[in-house]
Amino acid sequence: MARVQLKSIAKSWNAGGKTSVGVKEMSLDIADGEFLVLLGPSGCGKTTTMRMVAGLEDATQGEIWIGERKVNDLEPKDRDVAMVFQSYGLYPNMTVYENISFPLRIRGTKVAEIDPAVKRAAEKVELMDFLDRRPKELSGGQRQRVALARAIVRQPAVFLMDEPLSNLDAKLRVSMRSHIKHLHHELKTTTIYVTHDQIEAMTLADRVVVMSKAEVQQIGTPEQIYNDPANLFVAGFIGNPSMNLIDGKLENGCFIAEGLRIEGMGRGAVEKVVLGVRAEDLMLANTDNANVRGSVFSFELTGDATLITLQCGAQRITARSSKEFRTRIGEQLGFMAAPERSYLFDGQTQNRLRFDRS
Ligand SMILES: Nc1ncnc2c1ncn2[C@@H]1O[C@H](COP(=O)(O)OP(=O)(O)OP(=O)(O)O)[C@@H](O)[C@H]1O
Ligand SMILES: [Mg+2]
Repeated sequence: MARVQLKSIAKSWNAGGKTSVGVKEMSLDIADGEFLVLLGPSGCGKTTTMRMVAGLEDATQGEIWIGERKVNDLEPKDRDVAMVFQSYGLYPNMTVYENISFPLRIRGTKVAEIDPAVKRAAEKVELMDFLDRRPKELSGGQRQRVALARAIVRQPAVFLMDEPLSNLDAKLRVSMRSHIKHLHHELKTTTIYVTHDQIEAMTLADRVVVMSKAEVQQIGTPEQIYNDPANLFVAGFIGNPSMNLIDGKLENGCFIAEGLRIEGMGRGAVEKVVLGVRAEDLMLANTDNANVRGSVFSFELTGDATLITLQCGAQRITARSSKEFRTRIGEQLGFMAAPERSYLFDGQTQNRLRFDRS
């Protein structure tokens, strides 16, 4: 187990006179035993970051520390990390047992120690009944668990997992997610986990690093990322349905857009702002109390709730209501947005605006 520190690392490539940026300057201090998730859309630099930690890619600048060692100049095999990828990378002609034991055999571990280690790892991921099978005789989830067991058996200082669940169907992902969560609870090995799935990030992480366009947007606990987004990107990326983001202006602390007048948003005046409010923070209200008014554009039953989307001028805003609620398209409705659960962002810089509410 180890603390992992990334000190101002960056990665870019030069080819044919063109520079391609993988990661702009990034610093992270990952505690011993922490589960850290790198989250962001395709191409934002997650895998590049991971490959630099693993030693599969040289950092263009900066230092990488694992425990007490600066590892920039160490070979991947000498860094004491185990990687699990989206493609399982199992050896097709080896049995599950042989696949799991492989890292120990090449390391020259004593034969007497290999067998108990393999069985312990197989037990942890519930593969004891499959040790004699070959990968092609396994389901996707079982193959993924073999890859996990092969990483566990090495008892590395750090696990690096790059989208390990993305080849699995939705149901399996959820069950593997809880496997990984439980495993981390038992092993307490420092883990860096890459995903573009915000639910995976929220459920697994001690801390989430939200990335976009090769840059860190925010680092925080799942609660901080969800409840206190630093900018428009984070606000829009985290949450399902996505946070409502409405263009408007701020006058005397009142947010104004067609159909919306939300008092109590501080005291300032800003010409171009964006209001952010989550569907679950909008309450149905009779039209006298409502501070959001419009006509029903659509309503969708999700089983556990009803999502109602109002057309407010040119913009739409979605609220989450009880599963019993019914309405008609075109009906006039109102919502109440509580100012303390609404966010303001600068329309130019996209950064969060924080006003003194007192
Ligand atoms: N060997 C390379 N040479 C040049 N550019 C590269 C190279 N590898 C990655 N890049 C670029 O670096 C950026 C980050 O890529 P990276 O693979 O880290 O993204 P990612 O966040 O893992 O995306 P995904 O979710 O699609 O896996 C991309 O713009 C990519 O095109
Ligand atoms: Mg990737």
